[in-house]
Amino acid sequence: PIPVIIDCDTGVDDALALLFAVRHPGLDLRAVTCVAGNTDVDQVVRNTLIVLDHAGAGDIPVARGAARPLIEPARSAAHVHGQDGMGDMGLPASARKPVDVDAVTLLRREILASSRPVTLIPTAPLTNIALLLRTFPEVTRNIERIVFMGGAVAVGNATPVAEFNVWHDPEAAAILLTAGVPITMYGLDVFERVQVPAADVQRLRDSAVPRLKLAGDLLAHRDPAASGDPTPTGGLGDAGAVCAVADPAGLTTRLLPVEVSLAPGPSRGQTIVDRRPRHGESEIHDGAREQALVDVGLDVDVDRYVKLWLETVEG
Ligand code: BDR
Ligand code: CA
Repeated sequence: PIPVIIDCDTGVDDALALLFAVRHPGLDLRAVTCVAGNTDVDQVVRNTLIVLDHAGAGDIPVARGAARPLIEPARSAAHVHGQDGMGDMGLPASARKPVDVDAVTLLRREILASSRPVTLIPTAPLTNIALLLRTFPEVTRNIERIVFMGGAVAVGNATPVAEFNVWHDPEAAAILLTAGVPITMYGLDVFERVQVPAADVQRLRDSAVPRLKLAGDLLAHRDPAASGDPTPTGGLGDAGAVCAVADPAGLTTRLLPVEVSLAPGPSRGQTIVDRRPRHGESEIHDGAREQALVDVGLDVDVDRYVKLWLETVEG
């Protein structure tokens, strides 16, 4: 199996990503690191431990990471993920505790200890990953690639042009993009398309198996005021990025220059993806700015990932 580490801000759809990663036989989830994003980092840790308990993965190390972005203040997404960041279901706390080292230390330890290069899957603001890359740059020699949920080629969600994870910590995202390891961007353009049909959600909700009931309740969680759509179907969200590691053939990508806007004002946090036809290097490297080449997700086989996720989590 592929050794993977998920860096998350659990998070309704981060939870769906964790449930899948634990159960997929082709993935070996070595650790989970937590960062402030959808909710504060201590709540992210609590939510993550609850989800791993439900998945029967109580032995996977979980570490607490950054409590706020590099420059920006932390900003809650309670309007999307609920006050507790995971749909306010009133789930009892886990008896387990996070490890006694911070996220950056755990990431370094697990990456360097692995006999096979590790794939990192950040599904949250990129603060922990940026701190890791700046503190221990030697980790890149044992990183296979980084598949991150974040950014958008077209339309944003946190702002008209910026996706939440990149917008929450744009400087960290810029550090990630120039890490010098292969990077896949699983952005909003594909993220929003992978939706589980209502009948499947209902089957999960009706299950007596706690893991499946949790999965169904998470999928059914949506803010009707925000979406205007009461249909009880749910997006796989961050879980799609993990599907893209387990089954890369379901995601169509293209290697394109990507830059994060760090300017104050309406473009801050936008991922500017250069899709112009290429006629020469000069067009790719305008000016003196460092522009990373990133494998950008442009299309996704929705049925394939929904089937993969359901079969894996229910299997
Ligand atoms: C991203 O932000 C969070 O709300 C989701 O978990 C996802 O990682 C979408 O913009
Ligand atoms: Ca997330």
